[in-house]
Amino acid sequence: MSEILLRAQGLGVTYASARGEVKALEGLDAVLHQGEFLSVLGPSGCGKSTLLKIAAGLLNPSAGRITLAGKPISGPRPDVGIVFQQPTLLPWQSTLDNVLLPIRTLRRDRVRGRARALELLQLVGLETFANHYPGELSGGMQQRVGIARGLVHDPTLLLMDEPFAALDAMTREHMMLELQRIWMAAGKSIVFITHSIPEAVFLSDRIVVLSARPGRTIRDLAIDLPRPRTVATMGEARFNAICNDLRSLFTELVHFD
Ligand SMILES: Nc1ncnc2c1ncn2[C@@H]1O[C@H](COP(=O)(O)OP(=O)(O)O)[C@@H](O)[C@H]1O
Ligand SMILES: [Mg+2]
Repeated sequence: MSEILLRAQGLGVTYASARGEVKALEGLDAVLHQGEFLSVLGPSGCGKSTLLKIAAGLLNPSAGRITLAGKPISGPRPDVGIVFQQPTLLPWQSTLDNVLLPIRTLRRDRVRGRARALELLQLVGLETFANHYPGELSGGMQQRVGIARGLVHDPTLLLMDEPFAALDAMTREHMMLELQRIWMAAGKSIVFITHSIPEAVFLSDRIVVLSARPGRTIRDLAIDLPRPRTVATMGEARFNAICNDLRSLFTELVHFD
């Protein structure tokens, strides 16, 4: 097994809100190996987005520790790309300028950045919308802009929070295949957050299943289906057996909530 890139040990997060304290994560352990595609699967509200924000250096845990390449994470990093659950686009900037945001903040080469941004817009099927504003795009289109923005600076670690949840079924299938292609070609490490079992099984080398809130790891499952996986993979008996196994676990979790 390759080197460990991300390691979470005993992670806990307690939010203080007007309604009192909310324990989002408690005693969560997980690792991501170099080059691995890891999905984090769990019921709604179990702390998945909280975990992603910690990995992105946007939130400090209340307990435990998290390291990237052996060093504690102390803030956002240029070699990490983030795709948020909500597209979070700047409404006064064009699609292209939104995609270029990491290039500007990291002061990367603008000519190369622009070429890459246009390539990514083509990849997500939005090449003719480069000059449109977010208000002129559907929710699914905005989300695809967010995906292009997460990739534009060619990060080695990609953190994705339910990136395909707002997409229609056909676009989602297309994006799953594309993400696998990008991952296989570029040797990236990916943490992919989802509540979709087939999405997690299709994409992942490994799936970490979280309990209902407060989230902690209750299953760590290797998915050894051969790659590249194709649309036909989703019809295969092994694929469906893995999905069913996870589904029964999920049913117990939801009752638990
Ligand atoms: N900023 C916050 N303040 C208070 N509670 C929060 C905050 N963010 C999330 N929570 C609560 O923490 C729990 C986990 O949230 P989240 O990480 O968004 O879960 P998930 O992404 O798995 O749906 C939820 O109960 C949510 O309401
Ligand atoms: Mg979430």
